[in-house]
Amino acid sequence: MKDKLHELGARAREEMAEAGSPEALDEIRIRFLGKKGELTRILRGMGGLSAEERPHVGKVANEIRAAIEKELTAKSAALKKLIKEQMLHNERIDVTLPGTAVWRGGRHPLNIVLEEIENIFLGLGYTIAEGPEIETDYYNFEALNLPKDHPARDMQDTFFISNEVLLRTQTSPVQVRTMEKTAPGLPVKIIAPGKVYRRDDDATHSPMFNQVEGLAVDHRITFSDLKGTLAYFAREMFGKKTKTRFRPSYFPFTEPSAEVDVSCVICGGKGCRVCSHTGWLEILGAGMVHPRVLEVSGYNSEDVTGFAFGMGIERITMLKYGIDDMRLLFENDLRFLQQF
Ligand code: DAH
Repeated sequence: MKDKLHELGARAREEMAEAGSPEALDEIRIRFLGKKGELTRILRGMGGLSAEERPHVGKVANEIRAAIEKELTAKSAALKKLIKEQMLHNERIDVTLPGTAVWRGGRHPLNIVLEEIENIFLGLGYTIAEGPEIETDYYNFEALNLPKDHPARDMQDTFFISNEVLLRTQTSPVQVRTMEKTAPGLPVKIIAPGKVYRRDDDATHSPMFNQVEGLAVDHRITFSDLKGTLAYFAREMFGKKTKTRFRPSYFPFTEPSAEVDVSCVICGGKGCRVCSHTGWLEILGAGMVHPRVLEVSGYNSEDVTGFAFGMGIERITMLKYGIDDMRLLFENDLRFLQQF
């Protein structure tokens, strides 16, 4: 029996010497010293020994168990150290390698253009006003001289929440809201940017889009103030050489009304595909505030006058960057957005 135990000790030592991983050592521990291991199996035969022999064999067994355990612990520590050293060697960090690029967020082209528009008018002494996107029929139409049966409502069909509450079709209601708050104070000089909604959807129309409204009310404001202001705006926005053209038009809340064109930003006025070979691009609507709009807002139209204008930010953005489909502005495609 003692021989068997010594033989077991020798074999365990041999195997431990060859083990190359902590897992292999574990396996050896279980196989030799485990509950169902070889040592246990040999010791089961102790019952057949004489009372004299038993303590001797027991002692040898304990010594061998202790020796194997000691060796296992030592070998395991050595292996772990070796593995760590190999890792340190193999996984050396090369601090000269280029880093992983960090993605930076950017501003949306619509916001870039809006901020430019705002800065131009802030420089002229305007302040920024806001109004609700969920608007009443009164502010969106009625107060702007568009009564319920007015044909000009047809161009601005929208999303109705009830008969009297709707998603605003234009930023023009902010004119009335601002004047009501300021009257009879003067002057009123605001721009009002914001989202508007219409029942439109194609390459150049979106059911939601953005406008910037402008309003100046004071004593003796004239049409030439409007022309000068918008001509200056166009030069600041599209470049010093930009020309402006006013064409007679109709809006219920201005009289007279005009549509304003700028010389084509692509061809400079010679005529190209973008301007349909006219040399001009329409950018906004404008006019002198209708006396009725001044009156419903609390001003005496005999005493004060004003001009107003409204432009679509998407349209200006598309012209400025040569974008031919408005939907690109709303699709959140990074390949598009990263270009700005
Ligand atoms: N609200 C008009 C539209 O959405 C644009 C507009 C035209 C605004 C003339 C004005 C203006 O303030 O005077 O079509």
